[in-house]
Amino acid sequence: MPDPAISIQNLTKIYPIPFKRERLTAVDDLTLSVEPGQVYGLLGPNGSGKSTTMKILLGLVPATRGQTHIFGRDSSFVESREEVGYLPENPYFYKYLTGEETLHFYGKLCGLRGEPLRRRTRELLHLVGLEDAADRRLGGYSKGMLQRIGMAQALVQEPRLLVLDEPTAGVDPAGSRDIRDLILQFKTRGITVLLCSHLLGQVQEICDRVGILHKGKLVREGELEKLIAIENQTQLIFENASPELLARFEAEAAACGARLVEKSKPHATLERFFLEVTQ
Ligand SMILES: Nc1ncnc2c1ncn2[C@@H]1O[C@H](COP(=O)(O)OP(=O)(O)OP(=O)(O)O)[C@@H](O)[C@H]1O
Ligand SMILES: [Mg+2]
Repeated sequence: MPDPAISIQNLTKIYPIPFKRERLTAVDDLTLSVEPGQVYGLLGPNGSGKSTTMKILLGLVPATRGQTHIFGRDSSFVESREEVGYLPENPYFYKYLTGEETLHFYGKLCGLRGEPLRRRTRELLHLVGLEDAADRRLGGYSKGMLQRIGMAQALVQEPRLLVLDEPTAGVDPAGSRDIRDLILQFKTRGITVLLCSHLLGQVQEICDRVGILHKGKLVREGELEKLIAIENQTQLIFENASPELLARFEAEAAACGARLVEKSKPHATLERFFLEVTQ
């Protein structure tokens, strides 16, 4: 069996509260693992410990207790993170650099030079839809554009694992659909993704597994389909069914002891409707 892409064991993070004797447990004995190639959604209310977990995994914050591994290597060692791309919660960039210069800068940090660096920069600007803004300084970028440049910098070194802390925060519906499609593309290329997001609709569309944190504790974890399936219900959607046919179905079902819970017309999603009228 290959090593899990991410393995977190009994992770606890306690922050002291300055000038008080109290302490805050941000992550409480968390154990979870993410298999290679999975898209894993870490969910939870504000302050439940999602970003802290990611930062510990990436060696940016020390754990109080517990271990974290990336592809089998202790993630407190820098080498374990060579193949990891990270989009932080509030990415900070040099505002006087242009989009292109920013990606050049991160590419150089990852050891790229010359033509490969220029090619990768162009590819990434295209991938995140910022070609037209490549020569503009980041100081003049909108929130969504900064988020896209953040996604691009996370991809510079073609990572095997991507850690995305709210990748669609502040991005409009079309942009956020693009990011969702990008994540699905990564998945087909076998890249593992750990993401946290409050957009549950999107999480549902792209994640294989989810874990739900509440006050630092993992309260639910598992395969998304299984977690949310309502075991004793079945949904049938007909096209062109006459009222008489539906009445017959209902009568037959009732005769067999099945109860009709809901009868309604399926709706397009608001997202699809929004995109239809704005594009
Ligand atoms: N550097 C820090 N010092 C002290 N407390 C911190 C620090 N970073 C986070 N915390 C606390 O740890 C808890 C978890 O924070 P964290 O940022 O991990 O939550 P989150 O799940 O990412 O929330 P959100 O959805 O708002 O991003 C919060 O109570 C937060 O106040
Ligand atoms: Mg957070």
